[in-house]
Amino acid sequence: MQTRRSSLSGVCYLTMGLIVLLLGLVFASMYVYRYFFITQFPQLPRESVFHCGVLYEDSLYSPFKGQLELHEDVKIYIEENYEQINVPVPQFGGSDPADIIHDFQRGLTAYHDIALDKCYVIELNTTIVMPPRNLWELLVNVKKGTYLPQTYIIQEEMIVTEHVSDMEQLGSFIYRLCSGKETYRLKRRTARRRINRREAGNCNHIRHFENTFVVETVICKKL
Ligand SMILES: *[C@@H]1O[C@H](CO)[C@@H](O)[C@H](O)[C@H]1NC(C)=O
Repeated sequence: MQTRRSSLSGVCYLTMGLIVLLLGLVFASMYVYRYFFITQFPQLPRESVFHCGVLYEDSLYSPFKGQLELHEDVKIYIEENYEQINVPVPQFGGSDPADIIHDFQRGLTAYHDIALDKCYVIELNTTIVMPPRNLWELLVNVKKGTYLPQTYIIQEEMIVTEHVSDMEQLGSFIYRLCSGKETYRLKRRTARRRINRREAGNCNHIRHFENTFVVETVICKKL
């Protein structure tokens, strides 16, 4: 009787020990899984917002030569593969506030010039605009302080061409930005000559960045 009871309780202890051991293994493997798979491959956020500012050397207009600062908000949608940039009224007086969308899926860029309340659409230039994933990495590094933005400006000239009436062909992101606004296509001006004074009155300027440098997009009406 005595030995039977002790062997029974021995089996109980053994089972309990095994259960504790198994639970321990389960928790340990969950921890290892989380440590290796979640910290090694961090989940990219679906939507990230960055408030950015850069200092740049303004070499375009001699009277304004010197250091200027440009601020903008950048929203990056990695899954949908597009970027939205909001440029508030800038420090540089000659430039317009704007909302810009770079849609990498459609290969299109849209500028909404807020001062004119007009939209302009052109093919996305991938040598100027970083794709969402790369831009996200750049801005994360800027935030961490590993890369200090102190940069330069380049200029691109566009000519307004035809009016866009079928807005839906521009994809849903640009459609959302531009619907209800007068929308035109742009063509890049290839000629190297400088804009003359008569033409300059027909041009609007938008300064923005989506790379390591600032871009001034000059949008000119045909004379
Ligand atoms: C993209 O921009 C660069 C720099 O302004 C320019 O040299 C190039 O011709 C552009 N490419 C297209 C396809 O517009």
